[in-house]
Amino acid sequence: MKRIGVFTSGGDAPGMNACIRAIVRAAVYHGVEIYGIHRGYKGMIKGEIYKMDSHSVSNIIQKGGTILRSARSKDFGTPEGRKQAYEQLVKFGIEGLVCIGGDGTFTGANIFFEEFGIPTVGAPGTIDNDLYGTDYTIGYDTAVNTALDAIDKIRDTADSHDRVFFIEVMGRDSGYIAMPCAIGGGAEIVMIPEADTSIEHVVDTLRTGWNRSKTSFIVIIAEGDEAGNANEVARKVQEELPHMDARVTILGHVQRGGAPTAADRMLASQLGIACVEGLLEGRKCEMAGIINGELVYTPFIDTITKDKLINPNYLKMVNILSV
Ligand code: F6P
Repeated sequence: MKRIGVFTSGGDAPGMNACIRAIVRAAVYHGVEIYGIHRGYKGMIKGEIYKMDSHSVSNIIQKGGTILRSARSKDFGTPEGRKQAYEQLVKFGIEGLVCIGGDGTFTGANIFFEEFGIPTVGAPGTIDNDLYGTDYTIGYDTAVNTALDAIDKIRDTADSHDRVFFIEVMGRDSGYIAMPCAIGGGAEIVMIPEADTSIEHVVDTLRTGWNRSKTSFIVIIAEGDEAGNANEVARKVQEELPHMDARVTILGHVQRGGAPTAADRMLASQLGIACVEGLLEGRKCEMAGIINGELVYTPFIDTITKDKLINPNYLKMVNILSV
């Protein structure tokens, strides 16, 4: 393989730049030409493709976001869109791809390979940590630390005013961000899509704490929880506990930005190199990940379809620690 392309797709995540840097430098190291594709599949269709070299990725390892930009492309979901993307790759002589993204990115790469035979190896880049085939995704550690920093600050004001705060964190359909935020942030309750925590349980826990003279509380809600978003949960709880002073904070996209932590820079660098080397070894439609400290490659289809379960003991930990 003489020329490869790299792109980021889906929601950006801190550490994507560190991964792009590793991919570009690994390609240069192995004597392969590397092209950056801007705005993911959307830019691939439009031919937003530029040659990169070692200098293109100087001074980016510490930066949040993605220098290649990112997008979610509706057109790539159509056969016509994918044909246009293929024609652009042919025009630029690109024979293989490295992508950084999540399940949507890998689903697209799988279909693209089936239709046009362009091999792709991927790095897991999402703050959600919801991909099977790796213990941690790039951006997760930073997002959790960003959220935790905000939760610590909210606790200061919650404590000063004897309030209960309902704090919503990201994670799409997963509670991976919520769980360490709850344990590390000393929350009384955590609500995640993987476990059924009823409003009655929330009310009981808060009432019991209140009756024991506890005056401030933190409830962490994963955005995908079935009980509803933080505003809905707060409203339902307040109907039962009108004497409690409640506030809602939705942390939102602040969790996606900022300088990556050391752990994310390490992971991104390791997986970026693994993607290029995997592609050059002839791998196709696989994601590079780290499980128990070992580098592993997992077929895209498994990363998308298999569940990555949250340790059930963590929920018990929240209950024990908030007693
Ligand atoms: O997948 C990352 C993520 O931040 C999710 O946690 C969240 O549900 C979603 O992306 C938000 O997407 P958007 O940036 O398109 O609003």
